[in-house]
Amino acid sequence: MNAQVKKTQVGIVGAGPAGLFLSLLLARQGIDSIVIDNRSRETIEGTIRAGVLEQWVVDLMQELGVGDRMLHEGHFHSGFTLRFNHESHHVDARELTDGKAVTVYPQHEVLKDLLAARLGQGGEIVFGVADTALHDMDTDRPRITYRDTATDASCEIRCDYVAGCDGFHGPSRRSIPGAVLTEYSKTYPYAWLGILTEAPPSYHELVYANHERGFALLSTRSDEIQRLYVQCDPGDELAQWPDDRIWAELHERLASKDGFELIEGPIFQKSIVAMRSFVCEPMQYGRLFLAGDAAHIVPPTGAKGLNLAVGDVVYLAHALEEAVNEGRQDRLARYSGAALARIWWAQRFSWYMSTTLHQNREDTSFERRVHVADLDSLVHSEAGLRYLAECYVGIPPDTGRLH
Ligand code: DHB
Repeated sequence: MNAQVKKTQVGIVGAGPAGLFLSLLLARQGIDSIVIDNRSRETIEGTIRAGVLEQWVVDLMQELGVGDRMLHEGHFHSGFTLRFNHESHHVDARELTDGKAVTVYPQHEVLKDLLAARLGQGGEIVFGVADTALHDMDTDRPRITYRDTATDASCEIRCDYVAGCDGFHGPSRRSIPGAVLTEYSKTYPYAWLGILTEAPPSYHELVYANHERGFALLSTRSDEIQRLYVQCDPGDELAQWPDDRIWAELHERLASKDGFELIEGPIFQKSIVAMRSFVCEPMQYGRLFLAGDAAHIVPPTGAKGLNLAVGDVVYLAHALEEAVNEGRQDRLARYSGAALARIWWAQRFSWYMSTTLHQNREDTSFERRVHVADLDSLVHSEAGLRYLAECYVGIPPDTGRLH
């Protein structure tokens, strides 16, 4: 059977944050793309992930015309709280970073806004594809093949460049010969149990707690729905965590001498999140460019995942503009190096937040005390607080690095 052939300038595998931001950035530059994803639109719009946007991502969403709902429904905090030794320490990010705030707006809401905008522009996004395969990436005529499950047609996208934005388990990275890539990874001996509860906010900002019983995080979703996480074992099953155990642990771990009170409500969603750090280098093979989780994973502490993915595609869109419009690949050749520099900074921060805030059963009692001393020394130093705040609100991608 002959494949149905489509042509575009950039073939994008994956309709997550990296793929959708890229399609919108390219469209703004007059570059055509087709996005494919093996998930349905409902799955993409319904999968619960983290919810913290760095200030420059908030600004970019407004620039791209996809920020209206975020401005109305997002939660804007001037900073966040670190809790250890049962005491609270407010990190005033806004004051420490010249006005940059912390925005809580869930990833799946961002995705709804990006999908609506790109489809509204007449952009092509094919959902529910199967058997995706990448071909001829080391030539100047790369191709993507897949089966369209809606019509059962075999399809082929012929394009000039391919963006692999299909996450850690997608086919893009795996289509690169192993000998070309170096992989760096770390698995943490703890995980997060995340819940959504129907309750009013217990606090005016996010709380990250280091406690002898394990880490806990208080976040929000709206005035009616709250997001909380409690450190658990990576081998734990949800059945081991009935609601009363979750609340008992959250009450203990989030307790503070300042009289903080955690408000309970019915729990309507529970899931366990594994924790891993991963980077693959380089993020390019011929005409294939990896972006987001396809190339790197951060543990969730600090919520850098989405922000990193958007940073990658800001670089990539800038580099593709020159390649597509001027036929020069100088910037594309620098894409991987520029993106990786930023990625390693965020890797360090996510690893640091994870290591200092969690209880690691492989740590000695000495190391546990050093982690608390580390946090204590930061919050009592103006320079320390400023550095922490800078890392938390994030560093915008510097496209000058591509020139
Ligand atoms: C959330 C997730 C995070 O990983 C984090 O560091 C802060 C908030 C969240 O889901 O709201």
